[in-house]
Amino acid sequence: MEREAAAKRIAELSEQLEHHNHLYYVEARPVISDQDFDLLMKELEALEAKWPDLASPNSPSQRVGGDITKEFNTVPHRWPMLSLSNSYNSEEVAEFVERIAKEYGAVTFTLELKYDGVAISLTYEHGELVRGLTRGDGEKGDDITANVRTVRSIPLRLRGDPPAELEARGEILMGRKEFEKLNEQREEDGEELFANPRNTTAGTLKLQDPKVVAKRGLQNYIYSLQTEPLPSRSHYGNIMYCRELGFRTPDPAKRFIEQADSLEGIMAYIAHWDHARHELDIAIDGVVIKVDNIDLQEEMGLRSKSPRWAIAYKFQAEQKFTRLHGVEFHVGRTGAVTPVALLDPVELAGTTVKRASIHNADQIAKLDLHIGDMVQVEKGGEIIPKITAVDVSRRPSGALPLTYPARCPACGTPLVRDEGVAQHYCPNEHACPPQIVRRIEHFVARKAMDIDGLGGETVEALFQAGLIHNVADLYDLQQSQLLNLGKGWGERSTQLIIDGIAASKAIPFERVLFALGIRHVGETVAKKIARAVGNMERLASMSVVELQEIDEVGTVVATSIRDFFNADGNRHIVERLRAAGVNFAVDPSDEISQSDLLKGLTFVVSGVFETFTRDGIKLAIEENGGKVSGSISRKTSFVVAGAGMGPAKKAKAEELGVKVIDEVELRRMIEA
Ligand code: IVH
Repeated sequence: MEREAAAKRIAELSEQLEHHNHLYYVEARPVISDQDFDLLMKELEALEAKWPDLASPNSPSQRVGGDITKEFNTVPHRWPMLSLSNSYNSEEVAEFVERIAKEYGAVTFTLELKYDGVAISLTYEHGELVRGLTRGDGEKGDDITANVRTVRSIPLRLRGDPPAELEARGEILMGRKEFEKLNEQREEDGEELFANPRNTTAGTLKLQDPKVVAKRGLQNYIYSLQTEPLPSRSHYGNIMYCRELGFRTPDPAKRFIEQADSLEGIMAYIAHWDHARHELDIAIDGVVIKVDNIDLQEEMGLRSKSPRWAIAYKFQAEQKFTRLHGVEFHVGRTGAVTPVALLDPVELAGTTVKRASIHNADQIAKLDLHIGDMVQVEKGGEIIPKITAVDVSRRPSGALPLTYPARCPACGTPLVRDEGVAQHYCPNEHACPPQIVRRIEHFVARKAMDIDGLGGETVEALFQAGLIHNVADLYDLQQSQLLNLGKGWGERSTQLIIDGIAASKAIPFERVLFALGIRHVGETVAKKIARAVGNMERLASMSVVELQEIDEVGTVVATSIRDFFNADGNRHIVERLRAAGVNFAVDPSDEISQSDLLKGLTFVVSGVFETFTRDGIKLAIEENGGKVSGSISRKTSFVVAGAGMGPAKKAKAEELGVKVIDEVELRRMIEA
């Protein structure tokens, strides 16, 4: 293709992709399938790879994250970023409204949610996003443009006929679901959990790798517009104008924004959201009340750092008193010891609370907690409630202070606390029961060795019975030993376990690596390492420096891997796993070519295959750019049928006109 034609096609594709992106992330009404979207994106990426100078920094291809940001430059704000003065009760809101009414007569207010995220300022020149700045000190902020480009609801180019320069301001947020997903992953990877969505958003926006930011699913709402002249003299009107330009603005139909001209209207809005906020996926911590008329705003002016024409009503974090009847010290897979408060059940923010997190020893000391205390629990931005105060006057006489144990509650080993780390750890990796059990649980889990028939309870029981002390012991288990355990250990269930263990020897190396539970080596990192290194022997012999050369492996991961293999106990277990026949190398026949041959196609696999395991066939499809789905629909491109595929599936495929192929045909498609 000629350069000129390429430029034209790049422009077309970029426009189409941004259009579909807008429909999906801003309007939540996509009109094309993910596959079709991916096809367009692939075409754009291919053209940009061929003509790099035609690739704009605002290309939709940048949504997945551009180059590493070495440092965030500090840039002055063209218009200072103000903050809001807070009020916590209705009297203060009433005062605010009455003062304005007295001085200016009838006034219309725009009411908005107060998003509990991170403020952002977005500058557009001639409709192109040129800068994304944090609030900083209000005068100047950090340039986080590369990270901002990955937030799908922030337009890279504006629609319509925008002014030559404009700045839109709003909040970047992480939804609860995304937040929980992220924390589940971190728990699995043995990493410290994030406290709440707001901190996580702030941390995410300061990451140097936009590719990681892109995966965090951040979202955005716009709540203010700066440009000269403003398109409307009504704040509400300006927000609606932002919507026309393609921004994600609060939706009036959901009451994210509305207008009121009386105190009653304002209080009704507050009352609605004080209740309804618990059902939102995003965190809000109040309601913002703004004088709508911009002329009036200008007349009213500013205090030092906040406008006189707006006020934030902050919701009370829901708090209640209940009795602390005990504490449990939970020992995790990595040895981290976390105190959990046991409470008399209490209703809080729509859920029954029985446990609360007490983060660490410092907090126990600060609150001076005693068993039997009446404690105040609060559910603020955090998902897990926390203890915020103690009513000392109601302390039962003779109550014992809650002390942080010096030794591991499970094995008695003195706990260690590294400098700068809030957590205590039990260093007795190889003999501390809960650590062992949790490590074995992790090993047999679905995403790891996927051993059928073994779950948390069975692992615990086998450990209690003295049959397993580490993951290698699993491979020495005999069915007779299991049958001897008595009730509940029948012929069928024990056979399932033995078969499951035997079958796990065929699990791909990358999952074996993940299953070992090396700290900081999660699923994705394990995959990268397995592919880069090829086998366990080589991995075990690599130095920290060599390890760091692997994509996505930094000092922390590299050191953790080296430490793992340096420990005799671990080396011995790894050796026994090898002897048992566990897969320690990337299988060359399994090493499916990576390609884009199946890009845009969705497959449903069903039945048993001769030349693939069930996971193997899914991996083969994904590695070649295809998608695997669980059920047949109109979106399905092919059903790959193995032996024993059910008649219902066959009928469904026929009914929808979906082509059914066998594994030979699939191989032909990817070997083409
Ligand atoms: S307006 C001049 N509107 O609250 C007023 N701010 O202390 C400037 N915030 O850091 C802000 N939701 O990040 C405005 N609907 C909303 C908001 C909002 C959340 C945040 C904003 C700012 C803080 C104000």
